[in-house]
Amino acid sequence: MDIQWSDELAIGIGIIDDQHRKLIERIASFSRAVDSGDMRKVEETVNYLVGYAIQHFGAEELIMIRNCYDQFKEHRDEHSWFIKQVFDAHTSLVKKESFTQRQVEELRDMLYEWTVDHIMVKDKRIAQTLNSFGGPLRQGAGLS
Ligand SMILES: [Fe+2]
Repeated sequence: MDIQWSDELAIGIGIIDDQHRKLIERIASFSRAVDSGDMRKVEETVNYLVGYAIQHFGAEELIMIRNCYDQFKEHRDEHSWFIKQVFDAHTSLVKKESFTQRQVEELRDMLYEWTVDHIMVKDKRIAQTLNSFGGPLRQGAGLS
């Protein structure tokens, strides 16, 4: 599966685009681990992915809160759903519950498809809405 950043994913808020690029890189690392069939590596990269996703979603949510974004609650529910999926996967991997190669491939495909769809639809809506205000954007915190 070819997982990489594309300019079509840019929403036009620089700080968020930089974080999305890193999020896609982390999903790509997870994908390479899935392809290798090494469950220890899969566990490590899921851990790495959830760490970045939590920080990124927090930064995005801060921008939404500071700018009184009208769909903040629905948006946050979507982020929570993603984190719960990764939590379940991480827990199963740590507890060495049976996780077949097919299941991790399905998880990978689902997380990647969710991310692309979420960025293209929901995150782009944040940028469109906030940019339509015309004033300066109240920014969130940067991530390293
Ligand atoms: Fe988002």
